[in-house]
Amino acid sequence: MEQAAVILLGLYFATCSATGPLHAQCRVEWNFGVPCWNVYVALVSQIKLWSTADNCQQGGEKCLYTLETANIHLIAGKHSTLSDKNVEDITLKLIPFDDNESCHVSGFSVSETWYLVLDYGTNYCNLHNLVEGSSLDKAPGYAESTNDFKCTQYSAANCTIY
Ligand SMILES: *[C@@H]1O[C@H](CO)[C@@H](O)[C@H](O)[C@H]1NC(C)=O
Ligand SMILES: *[C@@H]1O[C@H](CO)[C@@H](O)[C@H](O)[C@H]1NC(C)=O
Repeated sequence: MEQAAVILLGLYFATCSATGPLHAQCRVEWNFGVPCWNVYVALVSQIKLWSTADNCQQGGEKCLYTLETANIHLIAGKHSTLSDKNVEDITLKLIPFDDNESCHVSGFSVSETWYLVLDYGTNYCNLHNLVEGSSLDKAPGYAESTNDFKCTQYSAANCTIY
């Protein structure tokens, strides 16, 4: 019995390191050299702008975002995938630093479908597209940090499509 448990545990870690998180999800950290208030307004505006399917007429997934919570510390909502009807939960935590002159954001996106293991980078793109769409990636001091262990299929992601 104990041996079986050890083997299972080994398999678990082998799978984790080979394909990233076991459940399709993504964690991204950003720094922006602008106050959290500006970051907050930019992200919420972008979510509202992409709430209908209009922006996906030419393809892509930059649409069908919904807002559930919006305050200066936390933005939470959902993104529906147009192509396969999956839903992902998104949270963005805003933490000021540098005497409120800069803002650190922790982004998390996870697929509601528990058995979904591969997502073609959708969970990463959900987060990154909001930052790029609102031009926050052009803000002074912009830095994005994530990797294949934190984001399902991060290196394979094509955010134009997914
Ligand atoms: C940052 O902003 C908050 C909320 O406006 C304020 O309470 C806090 O004192 C500010 N901190 C600094 C270091 O300016
Ligand atoms: C992503 O997909 C678009 C649309 O099919 C394509 O034009 C672009 O070259 C792709 N980018 C990468 C990095 O593969």
